Amino acid sequence: MIILGIETSCDETAAAIVDDTGTIRSNLVLSQLKEHEAFGGVVPEIAARAHLEHLDTLIRAALSDANLTLDDIDGVAATCGPGLIGGVMVGMMAGKAIAAAKNLPFIAVNHLEGHALTPRLTNQNLQFPYLLLLVSGGHTQILVAEGVGRYKRWGTTLDDAAGECFDKSAKLMGLPYPGGPNVEKIASECQNPAAALERFPLPRPLINKNKHDLNDLDFSFSGLKTAVRTHVDNLPAGDLSRADIADLAYAFQSATAEILSQRVEKALKRFRQTYKIDQPDLILCGGVAANKTIRAALEACNATLHAPPLELCGDNAAMIAWAGLECLRTGHSDPLDFKARPRWPLDPEENR
Ligand code: KG4
Ligand code: ZN
Repeated sequence: MIILGIETSCDETAAAIVDDTGTIRSNLVLSQLKEHEAFGGVVPEIAARAHLEHLDTLIRAALSDANLTLDDIDGVAATCGPGLIGGVMVGMMAGKAIAAAKNLPFIAVNHLEGHALTPRLTNQNLQFPYLLLLVSGGHTQILVAEGVGRYKRWGTTLDDAAGECFDKSAKLMGLPYPGGPNVEKIASECQNPAAALERFPLPRPLINKNKHDLNDLDFSFSGLKTAVRTHVDNLPAGDLSRADIADLAYAFQSATAEILSQRVEKALKRFRQTYKIDQPDLILCGGVAANKTIRAALEACNATLHAPPLELCGDNAAMIAWAGLECLRTGHSDPLDFKARPRWPLDPEENR
């Protein structure tokens, strides 16, 4: 089975082809960084127009990279939410059009499920259930994956997502967009980590609240961002040296890693109790999973960590093709009148 995947839910236009052996035949990602840089964040209208401009060429290139034509494809999977609705519509309609023209099954993929199933693309032996920390620009969630299409959300952020916090804090420190990779880069220049932590104390919101309640697994990042702002404001105006920023970025990254790993340890305890599995599989996914300090903090948790390779951490279409393939294997495909969903929780009961 060979699936074409399409991803356009944020600021990456992506097309990929994946087969049922887990081989990525092609995987093209066109970043819109340049288009949005001047605005310090993603502008939805610009994103949608850029997807429209590039998607058909990219799909053609993905087919040609894989040495295939549309006649070799067995199904079309496109992200249908959650995300910026204009962009989602572009990818979804392109996917539907190809499926209609070629009489192929269409699979409406939840972008979050794309991230959640990526570790099964890279490791065909990974079995359900597993615990998932999904950390991206729009989401910070602890989920249990019980099967394809079957997720329980155990924790989420009450305010900003971790990636959003990286991006906003970076902006406060005067670092360019996207903040995450730039914070990581400059933090690596920190000369004296212990001194940096002492110089810039930062809060770990919620980690001491209801410490023993394993059901309390939510996150909060806005206080951390505010504390970064306070430190920046307290430094001599206009005199933020590269060394200052390196120290602050280091302290910020450490705080984020500690918040995430503390929550995950707690979730692992609950997972062991719920599923009677001593050595759970822990999956780190989403764009923030690229961060090496965060990876190291989670590696230290009491579980077997699976983190996708860097090129599959951020948004891409191979994960969408794979999620589509997993759905199709369970006998599921979607009608061509499927409606795009700007909000699309993975756990249907999460608003309880
Ligand atoms: O999953 P993703 O590519 O897009 C969605 O939000 O769906 O995640 C993007 C987020 C951005 O906030 C970006 O700053 C963050 O992932 N990110 C990082 C790193 N690389 C990307 N955050 C921390 N460290 C990184 N190396
Ligand atoms: Zn994403």
